[in-house]
Amino acid sequence: MNVVTFGTFDCFHIGHLNIFRRIKEKFPDCQLIVGISTDELNFSKKQRKPVVSHKHRVEIVSSICYVDEVFNEESLESKRDYLVQHNADILVMGDDHKGIYDELDDICEIWYLPRTPQISTTAIIEKIISEND
Ligand code: CTP
Repeated sequence: MNVVTFGTFDCFHIGHLNIFRRIKEKFPDCQLIVGISTDELNFSKKQRKPVVSHKHRVEIVSSICYVDEVFNEESLESKRDYLVQHNADILVMGDDHKGIYDELDDICEIWYLPRTPQISTTAIIEKIISEND
């Protein structure tokens, strides 16, 4: 069974590790396939590049014991194609995305797992900036 998830995974933190761990706990025999958004995709979405380069984010996420395979997410509009290409049985996202991907439920099941509270890449960056003001 193939489970696909997507993200930027910039400044890799415990919330990122937890979502991978929870996927493997819920679906122990699955292949976990992770789409990692490119620097260009992030720039087009947020007008800033991630702190950690795509190459390094790919190396980090690929090295996580729960992750079986990674691919580049180059376009936000291509989720459907990526799910088909990777024979997804289930799409998992954190529940900050709740409902957003429900339209893809003709291809695979959609699960939203609870987000780890009180941590995000944005919060880490803001903390570093505020401590250096
Ligand atoms: N995630 C999570 N718990 C957190 C942070 C992220 O479960 N505390 C999940 C997201 O819901 C998503 C995946 O991790 O499914 C990748 O999230 P990403 O956007 O890369 O990380 P964030 O920390 O949310 O980044 P940002 O602050 O830039 O939005």
